[in-house]
Amino acid sequence: MTGQIAGVRGVAPLLPTDAVRWRAVEDGLRTLMDAYGFREIRLPILERTELYARAVGEVTDIVEKEMYTFTDRSGDSLSLRPEGTAGCVRAGIEGGLFHNQAQRLWYQGPMFRHERPQKGRYRQFHQWGVEAYGMAGPAIEAEVIALGARVLAQLGVKARLLVNSLGTRECRERYREALVHYLAAHRDRLDDDSLRRLERNPLRVLDSKNPDMAALLAEAPTIADYWSAESRSHFVALQDYLTALGVAFEVAPRLVRGLDYYTHTVFEWTPHETLAQATVIAGGRYDGLVSELGGAPTSAVGFAIGMERLVALVTRLPAPPVLDVFIMTNVSCQLRALVLAEGLRDAGLTVETHLAGASAKSQMKRARDCGARVIVEAQDEARVAIVQAGAAKGEGIVTWAEAVARISQIVGAKAKIDGE
Ligand code: HAM
Repeated sequence: MTGQIAGVRGVAPLLPTDAVRWRAVEDGLRTLMDAYGFREIRLPILERTELYARAVGEVTDIVEKEMYTFTDRSGDSLSLRPEGTAGCVRAGIEGGLFHNQAQRLWYQGPMFRHERPQKGRYRQFHQWGVEAYGMAGPAIEAEVIALGARVLAQLGVKARLLVNSLGTRECRERYREALVHYLAAHRDRLDDDSLRRLERNPLRVLDSKNPDMAALLAEAPTIADYWSAESRSHFVALQDYLTALGVAFEVAPRLVRGLDYYTHTVFEWTPHETLAQATVIAGGRYDGLVSELGGAPTSAVGFAIGMERLVALVTRLPAPPVLDVFIMTNVSCQLRALVLAEGLRDAGLTVETHLAGASAKSQMKRARDCGARVIVEAQDEARVAIVQAGAAKGEGIVTWAEAVARISQIVGAKAKIDGE
């Protein structure tokens, strides 16, 4: 059989023009991770299914409907990771990272959820996550949130920061009862989805986007009425810290988040111009998870950036690396061109050589598209012409032997003008 094979729905490659944007964003994020003292951890994509059932929650959309789960050849039930926090905790326990020490970790990579694909929602998507362990107070929350705010500010992304507190597990349990009581009393006004959630995970009813239910939900009790004194003072302190750091936020009394492991603070950033499902960064505190997964009780807080959504919103991209030299050549001079390229790379320059045997016109177009500082064109066995990038002004013709020194000189002068 021949013919084209379709890709998997909601699973896309990143083509080179997009990959350049991603890399610029990722380079910026790496620098910020260093600036906040976070260290990279590389996590597996495959985990045992029970990890997510226990950590994210048996009765969540992710575990109930969205995981890519299969039985491997040893008979184990495995899942492609739908998120990074559970795996980070598991790896941290196994690697002994939480023994009486604070940790600041970051990870990035593909996640998998079998959701209905649409703009900004994919089945394979990428998260950049940060997780801080062993710090109990609101200070680390404020610092992690400041990091998120800086990510967005640096890339020119405008988004609203929403914060709420889910209190302790006990606060949440009492709130859950009150909410069920309220919603059950108005059962006739709930849509099918909400009726199902009412039985299994009532807090998720608050996430409904159905406009017919907006009025009902606006009247629903809020978690704030069920906070303990300690939960309340923790949340008030966080708000004071954010204000002191100059991070703008809004308190969103109905923000609950879709994963079960959160306690106390939850937060997310939603772009100004779009709807709530376009949340670009989301996270919160999850103090119970490490012990739930078999470790010693450990404070934890973090967030994950949805990279597809972030890259789509970027208005100020850090400049991509500049190509120093583009070499145009006819087929008979290709070996000469290769030798020159290697010589230039020995001198520390970045070089692309056009080896497709294309017309001079199409080679020139490609050279311009690359934004090369200098374009050179092989003439014959003896000589190569130096063409100024952009202006297409001849810089003269040199022998192949002279070329490395002369080109390096011109690139150096241009880099100086470019401010490097
Ligand atoms: P989450 O809210 O499930 O949280 O996902 C975080 C972000 O990942 C979302 O705000 C969104 O930007 C992106 N995202 C989620 N699903 C998709 C999708 N199908 N397509 C594209 N982007 C998507 C978590 O995953 C938590 N682990 C965050 C966290 C870290 N909490 C504490 N630490």
